[in-house]
Amino acid sequence: MNLMEEIARRRTFAIVSHPDAGKTTLTEKLLLFGGAIHVAGAVKSNKIKKTTVSDFMEIEKQRGISVSTSVMGFEYNNYKVNILDTPGHQDFAEDTYRTLSAVDSVIIVIDAAKGVETQTEKLSNVCRMRKTPSIFFINKLDREGLDPFLLLDEIEKKLNISCVPMTWPIGMGKNFKGVFQLHTNKLYLFDAEEKQRLQEPIIIENLDKNQLSKYIGEQLTIKLIDEIELVRNVYPQFSRTEYLNGNIAPVFFGSALNNFGVKELLETFLQIAPSPRNSETNERIILPQEEKFTGFVFKIHANLHPQFRARIAFIKICSGIFKRNVPYFHVRSGKYFKFSNPTSFMAAKQSVIDEAYPGDIVGVHDTGNFKIGDTFTEGEVLQFKGIPSFSPELFRYIENNDPSRYKQLAKGIEQLTDEGVAQLFTHKLNGRKIIGTVGALQFEVIQFRLEHEYAATCRYENLPLYKACWFKSKNPVQLNEFKKRKANFLAEDKYGRDVFLADSAFTLQMAKENFPDIEFYFTSEFN
Ligand code: G4P
Repeated sequence: MNLMEEIARRRTFAIVSHPDAGKTTLTEKLLLFGGAIHVAGAVKSNKIKKTTVSDFMEIEKQRGISVSTSVMGFEYNNYKVNILDTPGHQDFAEDTYRTLSAVDSVIIVIDAAKGVETQTEKLSNVCRMRKTPSIFFINKLDREGLDPFLLLDEIEKKLNISCVPMTWPIGMGKNFKGVFQLHTNKLYLFDAEEKQRLQEPIIIENLDKNQLSKYIGEQLTIKLIDEIELVRNVYPQFSRTEYLNGNIAPVFFGSALNNFGVKELLETFLQIAPSPRNSETNERIILPQEEKFTGFVFKIHANLHPQFRARIAFIKICSGIFKRNVPYFHVRSGKYFKFSNPTSFMAAKQSVIDEAYPGDIVGVHDTGNFKIGDTFTEGEVLQFKGIPSFSPELFRYIENNDPSRYKQLAKGIEQLTDEGVAQLFTHKLNGRKIIGTVGALQFEVIQFRLEHEYAATCRYENLPLYKACWFKSKNPVQLNEFKKRKANFLAEDKYGRDVFLADSAFTLQMAKENFPDIEFYFTSEFN
């Protein structure tokens, strides 16, 4: 197969959801279809139910041994499918946002009883920002849930995207009979006793009433015919271009747990979802079919076992063919690195590979040289865009507990923030170090890892802030005035950029009003 063919058959995506909507269950069912696993229950849910740091560390340890859970690849109908795993806990949302920088599309799972939840909203915003094509899977139809029209309405209003239903549910909860596939006129029936779909779909031409009644009864037939008429009048027709541009979102209904609607989702997804897309760099657009290899690090996985200090950097291949033992240019350091044991993640197994293509993820060993966002090329100086840090929401001063371990602490903080566990700021007024995170659990993770990996101990002091945001202005007078007035609330990020520490939404609002020429940014990527 040549490079173009390899690119065309790749589908690299993530499944995201608010915790408990069914992401793990759906992932598992897709892996079962792909033959990547053979029994249900093989995919460990990586969510932390009790929200304790020990649970998290335990999960991380397990994952450290089997990093393959970070990327799950399998072959299906001659497609090469790469599912990128995202953390189940919302305190690690930032890790999820970064993973989204490495995917070409997403499937968003929504619980039919709960509708659009907070985390769905945040994740969907990130997808919209990047114009990532999104598909919705409305899950748990085997339980009583919200009316399907209401659900679509909520998606459209809260997530600001036009829905295109691809299937339509027949009944719900105890009366859930199946789904009607709108573009093929196929009826997929669900057997509540067997808890799965009946083998073959039934084709119903022109929504024939008599034929439908035979399968779903008269009452549901009348309801279905009415609803489908409404759907066809109200919602736009599916257009692949509009979907690929992120303007419309196809919607499927089903039940992941009962394996219903999952195969239909997978097969349609493979047909319509994008193969590896162009990538933006600060210098130029990179096309996947370019001959020369380019890629970037989107995730660093620490191996928490104290005996193995090495970390694994995950590189997303953006163009060309990545080859084992070939030296590649690490743009930030200006050095060449070659990798003798790059691994790929197929069928739940981690194996050394000789080649990888655009859309693939390879894991390479890292002894502390790489960080998130780093670019690799065959010599060209490039910096990929779209791997921003997000404005953190929780802040604490971090203090050294043991003066004799000062260096270790500094190194630990430096490396952990390179990994993207949290962000580091330095207060301009007093020089104190501030850790900013999106979730409370990260503070404990940092403390735990500093102690276990760097033999350094720290303590925290609470810093009640609303948000830290980056800012710049073309008006130097106003900028100077702002910096003077807000001297007590300024910090620098790790790269020396100015950050405003707003202590309340009101302060931020006032700053925007009083200094209209200053632009405030909530992600680090604003140049
Ligand atoms: P997440 O990764 O999005 O957090 O969700 P996960 O798949 O872990 O699913 C959350 C809960 O919802 C699980 O139950 C799971 O069995 C259930 N679930 C998933 N899909 C469906 C569905 O289609 N119908 C119904 N009725 N339930 C579904 P749990 O009790 O929290 O966990 P478990 O003990 O079953 O693992």
